[in-house]
Amino acid sequence: MLNKKIEKALNEQVEKEGYSSALYLAMASWAEVKGMAGIASWLYVQSDEERLHMLKFIRYINERGGKAIVPALRQPGKDQSNVKKMFEEVLKHEQFISASINEIVALCVAERDYTTQHWIQWFVNEQIEEEANATKILDKLNLIGDGNLYLFDRDIMSLRAAEGADAAVAT
Ligand code: FEO
Repeated sequence: MLNKKIEKALNEQVEKEGYSSALYLAMASWAEVKGMAGIASWLYVQSDEERLHMLKFIRYINERGGKAIVPALRQPGKDQSNVKKMFEEVLKHEQFISASINEIVALCVAERDYTTQHWIQWFVNEQIEEEANATKILDKLNLIGDGNLYLFDRDIMSLRAAEGADAAVAT
């Protein structure tokens, strides 16, 4: 059975994962309208993954005797100004999510909820990957500089395929 403090923290994380999904959905839509199909596709997949993260928290809270709260949709901020700034925001957001997950781990230790601490380890590992993926994309964008975004837009899809391969190796 979850104690109330842990339940509250997990429900707050439900909202953060839901917001991540909406944030990447907005970014995907922006990229699509701008004609960057590869970037849009990468972000649509990312948005779906975040929804799955949200679901994982919802299902876990309910399974452990808590009550998951489905949050209201918070509208992501303004339109993007350019691709590089957008991916900088992705990285910053993932670092924020990592910090939030770490706080839950710390709370689990303080509250001696070792079951949740063990369960949330999946997210600790996932965040390593999420930050690494965003960093990889930013490295590429820095290499390109003001160069050819058309090639990058095509390239980003092979990055997604490589992420899948990396994940398969890592598990
Ligand atoms: Fe669910 Fe990208 O953190």
